[in-house]
Amino acid sequence: MEKRQELYAGKAKSVYTTDDPDLVILSFRDDTSAFDGEKVEQLSRKGEVNNKFNAFIMEKLQASGVPTHFERLLNANESLVKNMEMMPIECVVRNVSAGSLCRRLGVEEGKQLNPPIFEFFLKDDALHDPMINEYHIETFSLASYENVHKMKELTFVTNMILQDMFAKAGMILVDYKLEFGLFKGEVVLGDEFSPDGCRLWDADTGKKLDKDRFRQGLGGVIEAYEEVAQRIGVPL
Ligand code: TMP
Repeated sequence: MEKRQELYAGKAKSVYTTDDPDLVILSFRDDTSAFDGEKVEQLSRKGEVNNKFNAFIMEKLQASGVPTHFERLLNANESLVKNMEMMPIECVVRNVSAGSLCRRLGVEEGKQLNPPIFEFFLKDDALHDPMINEYHIETFSLASYENVHKMKELTFVTNMILQDMFAKAGMILVDYKLEFGLFKGEVVLGDEFSPDGCRLWDADTGKKLDKDRFRQGLGGVIEAYEEVAQRIGVPL
């Protein structure tokens, strides 16, 4: 597999073309961003931990019937993935109240949400990722009606698989964000799943083990990511 030129650089990952037009390389950097890029720091080992974490989760989801872009780990910081046409939509599921839900609706943090809440956000830093719904997606042609329903369905299937996996390792999957793309017309999970894009709390102590440690300046960010990885069995 030959790595060619940089196609795109996001806030925490870069994408490179390869000699195969169907495959690209995702390179996980140590850059850590919050508040739509307002706070950015380099956290040593983050790229490697998230790359390996993501590989483990994507393989688990794939084995459980969720189509993912993941092909294989290439090295500490890079993975080979399918070259997809990404949809500019973030799919969020919330099992417990936290973050923007609390700020928007005046809900206290830590309330069990039954049934879980599903939200769409438009992926646009300049607009601070505003919340949107099925109508915005259809009217502005961000995704077809069928694909919107497929994304929702796959996001909820992911919830069942991952809630159970984290619960067995003594953690609560509070909420998480997924991004999907199209590969040869099929809706496929892309981007990454790591503690950068979800909230995880220790089930006994409530200790935050995700990017809220960075957002809230709690320290021990990578140590927490490594603890989660070790508890669920990610080989680091
Ligand atoms: P929120 O509470 O800020 O809306 O975030 C909900 C979940 O989605 C949380 O686990 C963090 C994740 N998320 C991202 O990873 N990137 C984003 O740009 C946003 C808005 C949320």
